[in-house]
Amino acid sequence: MRVGPRRPSERKIRVAAGIIRKGGLVAFPTETVYGLGANALDAEAVNKIYEAKGRPLDNPLIVHIAREDELKSLAREIPAEAEVLIEKFWPGPLTLVLRKREVVPKATTAGLGTVAVRMPSNKIALALISASGVPIAAPSANISEKPSPTKAEHVLRDLNGKIHAIIDGGAATVGVESTVLNLTAPVPTVLRPGGVTFEELQGVLGEVKLHPAVDAEVEAEGKILSPGMKYRHYAPEAELILVEGCSDAVIKRVQELADELRGSGKKVGIMASKESAAEYEADVIEVVGSRGDLTGVARNLFGTLRKLDEEGADVIIAEGFETRDLGLVIVNRLRKAASRREQISGFEANEKE
Ligand code: TXA
Ligand code: MG
Repeated sequence: MRVGPRRPSERKIRVAAGIIRKGGLVAFPTETVYGLGANALDAEAVNKIYEAKGRPLDNPLIVHIAREDELKSLAREIPAEAEVLIEKFWPGPLTLVLRKREVVPKATTAGLGTVAVRMPSNKIALALISASGVPIAAPSANISEKPSPTKAEHVLRDLNGKIHAIIDGGAATVGVESTVLNLTAPVPTVLRPGGVTFEELQGVLGEVKLHPAVDAEVEAEGKILSPGMKYRHYAPEAELILVEGCSDAVIKRVQELADELRGSGKKVGIMASKESAAEYEADVIEVVGSRGDLTGVARNLFGTLRKLDEEGADVIIAEGFETRDLGLVIVNRLRKAASRREQISGFEANEKE
């Protein structure tokens, strides 16, 4: 169903809400990525989400609400920090992890005693939740491990035939998922960086931690809190190599790798910033955005990975970004998607010696 993002058609929303109420699955747009929705309070409906996505059963879902007061019916306690954050960032890309109430079934939280809740800002999402009359559990609407969908056509490619409806509301504006913030820890802790940046949270909370598992390298040591952290994520079909570091050295190394891989018969795609794209020679080169516009890079990130797949790249070489603001989110997604990472920096190399 095509639905105008500004003034969603009530009739179409009613049809989609009817499917949710009957225990079906509806993919719908949010400002971050497309979600695959089901009635969050209906364990049977929620189980269909795991099945359609091929999602591991121990990875809990985010529950989406349309009004602040719905939070009380899902969460046992709403700490003072939550109130401040809600005031500042809802509706929007911030998910709060709180102690759950009994009504939230185990299927939704993968057996955890906590529930992750967010209020999206996308008008279609809000209309759908309101019309359904129930909170909607929704992970990203992709096959597990694939790049998240930022357009309805991405959902269709992954889930056609496995779900009941897709609402096409155009391209997602943020392009990366919400920030998942644990408010049940002694200090608020970011479990997944996302659309509300770490710096923004610091500005409001003062003290906030980044969970060590956010860095893929620490993850290997098995410190897991958000179960989603331990799985491979966001990965295109092609092998992804991520090259991080200071820009001139990175450009040189990316081209070196491209030449090597092309020499061994691989079709090589490069995901480049606007600033360096002209420096490269490869089979396909896609510009993900400008280094000066991380918002634009975030918006294009998953779509660009999917595009390079469609263009038939065997290997994708991606440049890293600075790890501040949305750059931290972009790099987090790339690190998790990459099967190989290199850190190129003259300075660090010297330090190690
Ligand atoms: O932007 C988003 O958050 C999108 C849109 C559709 O809202 N949804 C999304 O859902 O990204 P998903 O399932 O792809 O990611 C949910 C993340 C996972 O990393 C999961 O482990 C974590 O949230 N999570 C969910 N419930 C949790 C809980 N109770 N405790 C800790 N982490 C939780
Ligand atoms: Mg996901």
